[in-house]
Amino acid sequence: MFKLDRKFVTMGVILALSSTLAMASSSTIGIYHSTSGAIDGGVTYPRVDGEYTAYKYNEQSTKGVNFGRTPTANEIKAWDIDALPDGSGLPEGEGSVGLGDELYEAQCAVCHGDFGGGGEGYPQLAGGNQAKDKNGIVITLKNQRIYGSVDAPKRTVGTYWPVATTLFTYIRDAMPYAHPKSLSNDETYAITAYILAQNGLEVDGEDMDDDDFVLNKEKLAKVVLPNRDGFYPNIDGPNAQEDIRAFFADRAKNIGAGTRCMSDCKDPGGPEGKTEATVMKIKYEMSDVTPAYAYAKDLPPKKDKGTEHPGKEAYEQNCAVCHKTDAMGAPAVGDKSAWTETLKQGLEKVYENSIKGKGGMPPKGGSSASDDEIKEMVDYMIEASK
Ligand code: HEC
Ligand code: HEC
Repeated sequence: MFKLDRKFVTMGVILALSSTLAMASSSTIGIYHSTSGAIDGGVTYPRVDGEYTAYKYNEQSTKGVNFGRTPTANEIKAWDIDALPDGSGLPEGEGSVGLGDELYEAQCAVCHGDFGGGGEGYPQLAGGNQAKDKNGIVITLKNQRIYGSVDAPKRTVGTYWPVATTLFTYIRDAMPYAHPKSLSNDETYAITAYILAQNGLEVDGEDMDDDDFVLNKEKLAKVVLPNRDGFYPNIDGPNAQEDIRAFFADRAKNIGAGTRCMSDCKDPGGPEGKTEATVMKIKYEMSDVTPAYAYAKDLPPKKDKGTEHPGKEAYEQNCAVCHKTDAMGAPAVGDKSAWTETLKQGLEKVYENSIKGKGGMPPKGGSSASDDEIKEMVDYMIEASK
C-alpha cells in the first residue's frame, strides 16, 4: 500500500515538474510535448508497438466487434409482433364495440376524453372533419387547403392515420400510457373497434357504430382510413409521367378547382378599361381558414406579466407536468378540496415537503429552483386552487 502511494506521489512530482519545464521552454528538452489535437493537456496513452494516442480507450473494445449471442426462437417471437397494412402479423382474437366502449371509458377517457374527443394536452382520437363535399370527397387533412372555408380538419385517427392495423399495434404496445401492454389481444380489438366506430368508419359497407359489431384481424385489415392515399401523391414509379398528368388533370380532387391557363393567359386587350386577365384564380382564399393562417413574421407578443402571479410561469415549467391533473397522485392545481386537505398540515410543512420531497414528489419537483422560488410556485398553486 505504502509503495503504491509513494509511486503516485513521485509521479505527481514528475508531472508537475515536467509541465513547468514544458512551459519554460517548449521544445528543447526531451520530455513529452503536447501533440496538436491532444485534448486533455497532453496526456497520452500507450496503444500498440510504441504508438500512443491522445484518447484513453477500452482495450477490450478493440478485440473485434461483439455481436452478442444468437437470440432464442422465443425471443424473436416476442419481438416479431408488428402488423402490416394487409393485416399479416395481427394476432388472433376479437372484441366488440360495446366492450371497447366500457374499456375505453375505464382506461382511456381520462386522458383522451369522452368518445375520443381529446383531453387537454392529449391527442383527440375521433372526430375531426369527416364530411363529404359535393364530389363525394371526404374532407380529410389531405384536402385541407382546398377547403379553406371550413374548419381545418383536426388530426385524429379518422382524418390522419394512413392504416388501421397500426391502431391495433399502437394501442397494444403503447397504451394506456401508464401501463402499456396490459391489454389482452381481445381487449385491444375491442378498443380499436370502438375508436374506429367513433370515427364513423365502416368495414365492407357495414357500419361499425353498433355495440354488437365484433372486430377481428380479417375485418381490421379491410378498414380503409379516409386519408390513406393522402400522404404522398401517387406520381412515382415506372408510369410516373402518366401518373403526374393524371394527378394534375384531376385538379378538383388533388389540388383545387381552378382552371389552368397554359398560353395567352392575359387578355390581349390589356388592362385599362378592358376585360380582366384570365390568369388562374385561386378559388379558396387561404384567409378563410379558421383559425386563420398567420402571415406576420414578428415574434408572438410578450405576455403582460404585470397581472400574472410571479410563480405561474415557473410552475408551468417545473411542476405542471405532474400537478396539472391528479393522474400522478399529486394534488392537482385547481382542485380546491385536494389543496384544503394538503394545507391542513400548515403552510410551512407544505413548503418543506415541496423543497425536501415527499412520496412521489421529488425534492423541489426535480428542479434547481431556490427555496424562495419554490415557495413562490407553491403560493401560485395554492392561489390557483382556491
Ligand atoms: C395518462 C394518459 C393516457 C391514457 C390513460 C391513455 N393515453 Fe393514449 N395517449 C396519451 C399520450 C400522452 C399520447 C401521445 C403519445 C405520443 O405522441 O408520444 C397518446 C396517444 C395515443 C394514441 C395515438 C394518437 C395519435 O393520433 O397520435 C392512441 C391511438 C391512443 N393514445 C390510444 C389510447 C387508448 C386506446 C387508451 C386506453 C386503453 C389510452 N390511449 C390511454 C396518453 C394517454
Ligand atoms: C414528478 C412529478 C412531480 C413534479 C415534477 C412535482 N410534483 Fe409536487 N407532488 C407530486 C406528488 C406525487 C405529490 C404527492 C406526494 C404525496 O402526498 O405523497 C406532490 C405533492 C406536492 C405538494 C404537496 C405537499 C404536501 O405537503 O402534501 C406541493 C406543495 C408540491 N407537490 C409542489 C410542487 C412544486 C412547487 C413543484 C415544481 C417545482 C412540484 N411539486 C413538482 C409530484 C410532483
